[in-house]
Amino acid sequence: MSKKFIIGNLKMNGSIAFYNELFTNLKEQLRSIDPNNVDIGLCLPYPYLFLAKNSLSNTNIKWGSQNVAKDKRGAFTGEVSAEMILEFESKYVIIGHSERNTAYCESDQNIAEKFLRVKENGMCPVLCVGETLIEREAGMEKKVVRSQLETLIEKHGTNIFENSIIAYEPIWAIGSDMAASPDQAQNMCAFIKEFIGGNLGSKTGQKTLKKLIKVIYGGSVNDKNALQLLSLEDVDGALIGRCSLDAKKFSDICHSAHRN
Ligand code: 13P
Repeated sequence: MSKKFIIGNLKMNGSIAFYNELFTNLKEQLRSIDPNNVDIGLCLPYPYLFLAKNSLSNTNIKWGSQNVAKDKRGAFTGEVSAEMILEFESKYVIIGHSERNTAYCESDQNIAEKFLRVKENGMCPVLCVGETLIEREAGMEKKVVRSQLETLIEKHGTNIFENSIIAYEPIWAIGSDMAASPDQAQNMCAFIKEFIGGNLGSKTGQKTLKKLIKVIYGGSVNDKNALQLLSLEDVDGALIGRCSLDAKKFSDICHSAHRN
């Protein structure tokens, strides 16, 4: 059994009272999960990282942010640097989520810079890739995902993916109650591993990296479909939106991962 990664993306939701309650419930409900089998993370709005550090230290739940600045420091009003995120002992940083790409015109170049900042600070990037419905209907989904990965490989080389997570999030499946089918999820997650592994020179290197590349699925994952999606060979976990706002649903998903 390979380790699964269940990461919540809380998006722009919650309050101090909400997170205090969520953390209390999750600590209780996830107590029996072995961190060697399932890595659990919550990606929060920046202001609540301090709460996570206070409340979740020494538990099996890790935390992090949903974005990061591409620059290290300086005159960048409103930005938050990787160094700052690390100060709150964050583990995960989501990068390139499609909701940011559309609303804030994030480019592949920016995403590549952000990825590097996260790695430089010893945290784990959760890089989101995925196609629109029009692109899938045109049979272009692999081409689109490949080109999202290529910018990163061109800039930083394939080894940058070591100890990182790639989240396959088809844009049409986010917030839609229309999760990818098991075939679609398995197919793309396997493709991502093959593509990145195939970019490595030596056979041993390919094997090692393929083992080290973690590809998770996101988009309308819930407590009902999680078990099936998480049992797919090349799906190493899930990125959860709406269901991460509900302690019971999120912990049911984590327990499904534990059973795989
Ligand atoms: P939903 O699980 O709400 O579809 O959101 C998925 C997502 O965007 C996670 O990053």
